[in-house]
Amino acid sequence: MKDGANRLRGLDRLPATDPTTILRHRDGIYAVDLLTAAIVEFRLFDVLADRPGNLDEIRDRFGWHERPTTVLLTLCLAYGYLDRDENGIFFPTPIAREHLCEDSPWNLTPYYRSLRDRTVVQDFVRVLKTGHPAHWTGHDDAAGDWHASMQVDEFAGAFTAAMDCRGVYLGKKLADTVSDILSDARLFLDIGGGSGVYACALAANANHLHGIVLEQAPVDALAWESIERRALAERVSVHTGDMFHSDWPAECDLHLFSNVMHDWDAPEISRLLHRSHETLLPGGRVLIHETFLDSDRRGPLPVAEYSAILMHSTRGRCYAWSEMIEFLEKAGFSSLGYRPTGGDRGVVIAEKSQ
Ligand SMILES: C[S@@+](CC[C@H](N)C(=O)[O-])C[C@H]1O[C@@H](n2cnc3c(N)ncnc32)[C@H](O)[C@@H]1O
Repeated sequence: MKDGANRLRGLDRLPATDPTTILRHRDGIYAVDLLTAAIVEFRLFDVLADRPGNLDEIRDRFGWHERPTTVLLTLCLAYGYLDRDENGIFFPTPIAREHLCEDSPWNLTPYYRSLRDRTVVQDFVRVLKTGHPAHWTGHDDAAGDWHASMQVDEFAGAFTAAMDCRGVYLGKKLADTVSDILSDARLFLDIGGGSGVYACALAANANHLHGIVLEQAPVDALAWESIERRALAERVSVHTGDMFHSDWPAECDLHLFSNVMHDWDAPEISRLLHRSHETLLPGGRVLIHETFLDSDRRGPLPVAEYSAILMHSTRGRCYAWSEMIEFLEKAGFSSLGYRPTGGDRGVVIAEKSQ
């Protein structure tokens, strides 16, 4: 038992210190590149000072796609450089008018111009114009985006290790936050479960619970390894498949999507939630765990910053928890609300009727 507990390696206890700031440095690393692209390539604040506009007008004016435009405007609201009125019209705030507009004596935009050639700044210019993600490492190669790279051994291994290490803390926070939901569940399916670290965290904190990780190759093999390393193979298994096209294991009364929805745009999210609703047992619950914007989409700032890297490299972005509830309700679920967990993450919970 003692050996088994040690092998859980932190999944059943919290550290003495909070890693949120360390997560934020990494999650927000592309946000300033996005702001730089807006300043130096598009003169966003000058254009909006001359003529404020709503999201669609701004998209039309610059020739931008909706997904990256939403992310950029939310980031500017969260930084406090744009404001939005009750009609959805965006306009520069006093700080932006004084320091990010060319006709001001305190204009600082030349300070950013020297950063124009940074790879990620130029990636953002292309993502705004095309809507297609850039490569994770910063090349403009839509055919080789993050989604394709996750099917290549070396990249999938490194990326899964990154997701796994943060999941030790975030998984324990999730398990503690939904302990009442876990008590009612018997068998869960962790869709796009990565290394299975969240599945292991749920199982490690609810001894009666069994789980299945649904993953594609080659991450499925990494999940098997991590579950065995954590001594949880008697209760957590792996089902190899494509979450969009393969059959999902039936008989589950709980579905978990952890950091999955933020990789995708609305049609894929709808598809996954409809599949979930079809497959889940009556009365079953679904947990959507990731970083959520506030319902007014003005922040929080760390989430608005994280949305930049997701928009850059995946087909998704960060969603507001209220947007996720709308997706869930359209798929037939009833919302059981939103709960913050830890590290700027949270969980939206919903139920399929009996
Ligand atoms: C951002 S990771 C999240 C992993 C884990 N749930 C977590 O929270 O750390 C997204 C996962 O979705 C998986 N994935 C992407 N497309 C998939 C598909 N079509 N079928 C199954 N899994 C998929 C990827 O392999 C990856 O492990």
